[in-house]
Amino acid sequence: MKLVLTLALVRALLVHARSSWIVGWDVLIFTQQWPITSCISHLEQSSKATCNLYPNMTSWTIHGIWPTKLGTIGPNYCNKSWSFEEAQIIDMEPYLIKYWGNIYGGETRTSLWKHEWTKHGTCAAQLPSLNSEKKYFEKGLEWVTHYDYVAVLSKHNIFPDDVKTYSRNDIYIAIKDMFGVEPAINCIYNKKTKQHELSQIKLCFDQSLHLVDCDGIIGYNEEIIGNCPQLGITYPASVRTGGKEYSYSRKLAKF
Ligand SMILES: *[C@@H]1O[C@H](CO)[C@@H](O)[C@H](O)[C@H]1NC(C)=O
Ligand SMILES: *[C@@H]1O[C@H](CO)[C@@H](O)[C@H](O)[C@H]1NC(C)=O
Repeated sequence: MKLVLTLALVRALLVHARSSWIVGWDVLIFTQQWPITSCISHLEQSSKATCNLYPNMTSWTIHGIWPTKLGTIGPNYCNKSWSFEEAQIIDMEPYLIKYWGNIYGGETRTSLWKHEWTKHGTCAAQLPSLNSEKKYFEKGLEWVTHYDYVAVLSKHNIFPDDVKTYSRNDIYIAIKDMFGVEPAINCIYNKKTKQHELSQIKLCFDQSLHLVDCDGIIGYNEEIIGNCPQLGITYPASVRTGGKEYSYSRKLAKF
């Protein structure tokens, strides 16, 4: 009897340790970007800049999955001896290029993946369900198809359009209605056109990988209230880079 109790106690302690001691963060922030806005803002940095946009990039793309302790940023770079190995994800590369590609021209094909893995993936890996490069990137691919903002926004008549503008509340309601949690929504201010462009949408997950509100993350208020204005948000449909025009066609749902 005594032995059984002791074993149960040890097991309970281990379970507790695994969930709250080894894992040094509270939520995963899953950040997707609108590739056209990312490209436009990249092109503004320098006249020589180009973007990697492909005809098959017809959806929002992944920026990263970021383990986050509420009220702080990070942790980051949790295991510096765990370097990025392309071989681990080579089978998924066609999908990673389409859904998690580096929009910035002139950088290597793997640079964004390497950065996201070493900075964030090595921290996400504290969770058994994400404890390899393969699992981390697979989770991103699973989520990007499940949390499809082109589809979600279009249900509320919010389409990429170079002229039309939307309100912050329209965008917020579309996401909140679909998924039932508080998202964080980012805009980038375009100095040239003086427009606020929709740039990133974040959803938050707990350690069981269930959706939770993002309102505990740092900068949440600035992100949702500060950097997108209440009105006049554009959701750009086209950009010209490398001598080519990329234009999102609503009818074809592709570029
Ligand atoms: C850090 O990464 C190395 C290399 O993959 C691995 O062997 C080690 O177990 C990791 N350490 C922790 C604490 O996860
Ligand atoms: C998307 O297009 C890029 C560039 O042509 C290609 O390398 C990649 O394999 C494509 N991915 C898919 C899933 O079609």
